[in-house]
Amino acid sequence: IKENETVINGKSFDKDEWTNVTPAILAKVNRQLHLQPKNPISIIRQLIESNFTDFKTFNEFSPVVTTKQNFDDLYIPKDHPSRTKSDNYYFNKDTVLRAHTSAHQLQGLASGENKFLISGDVYRRDEIDSSHYPVFHQIEGFFYLDNDLTKLQNELNRVQATETPNIELVDDTVIKPENPVQACHSSEASDLIAAHLKHNINTMIRNLFADEKDLKVRWIDAYFPFTSPSWEVEILYKGEWLEVLGCGVVNQKIMNGAGLDNKIGWAFGMGLERLAMVLFGIPDIRLFWSEDSRFIDQFTPGKINKFVPFSKFPPCIKDISFWLPEGEWHENDFCELIRGEAGDIVENVQLIDDFRHPKNNKRSLCYRINYRSMDRNVTNDEINEIQEKVRRVVQEQFKVELR
Ligand code: PHE
Repeated sequence: IKENETVINGKSFDKDEWTNVTPAILAKVNRQLHLQPKNPISIIRQLIESNFTDFKTFNEFSPVVTTKQNFDDLYIPKDHPSRTKSDNYYFNKDTVLRAHTSAHQLQGLASGENKFLISGDVYRRDEIDSSHYPVFHQIEGFFYLDNDLTKLQNELNRVQATETPNIELVDDTVIKPENPVQACHSSEASDLIAAHLKHNINTMIRNLFADEKDLKVRWIDAYFPFTSPSWEVEILYKGEWLEVLGCGVVNQKIMNGAGLDNKIGWAFGMGLERLAMVLFGIPDIRLFWSEDSRFIDQFTPGKINKFVPFSKFPPCIKDISFWLPEGEWHENDFCELIRGEAGDIVENVQLIDDFRHPKNNKRSLCYRINYRSMDRNVTNDEINEIQEKVRRVVQEQFKVELR
């Protein structure tokens, strides 16, 4: 392997100033949790798929995609913040680990199917805590049909004929100028396809959460370059609204680009981890990656059951503080570096102090790193060693002055 290229699954990519994939991330690429029968991520995927009968499923598209697939094909503007290096894992300026399953919408359309689902692992640089991990899983849904009011109405009647159990579901969204019907769509057609989308999603959520008490679900307005109007669905869990899904009426440019000018469609993209955490009672997102049999043997394909925690091992907490040099500070880069050095043993990283020296105007930060293993006791000595490495690398990489 040459110094100036990255090799993944037999393909090599030249490095450039965009390259920021790390060995720790590349090690996750072939795990495919969504296809491991006993993993809750896979169980949830299958339960979702079972709500969409006659949808074709694509579950094995490669997560290594072009920036065209991940962004341009979806009309994400060149200067959109979601393209930045601090949010994504780039092989180089043209190749990236997909940040969402929407990167495969055109591949799905090219198959000729008018209803399909796409699931897979997606990658985003992020903070570190119990519900964020740089790799997670999504399932994308896509549906279209003739843009004809009678056909749209008949299809809506057909799906609405099935009633589902009750869960409090709040939707007080209305069409607004900021989240409009597309100019090329009649409001009747857009409303019909949107009603079809909402019915499908509400039914799926109700089925998934049929046994959950006191669950609250709400629809809110959203914005995506590849849909309009757009919405997000959130679920209330432990006092916090968690975003689980984005969706909307497909940008007609995407349909037209695929030669489907006279069709109208909807799409959604849903995260699987948060749903699985709620439904299986899994307290920490790192557990999905555990190879410990005490985790994976608790689950059965096709079934949702509550996770029984095995004893939680004690944490080991270390602080690191430093003076920043001039210039920008990206917390994601810092978290990435810690993950690279310490791996899944980091439970969370929290900024606990941020101040400026009144005289020299220098900024000082203090982060608290919580180390804890999922399956064993960690020793203070071993954590000290990791912390020492972290300190060294942080100093080298960010040119900070350690305190
Ligand atoms: N890709 C979006 C995301 O990851 C979700 C989405 C999919 C929104 C399809 C609209 C349509 O946030």
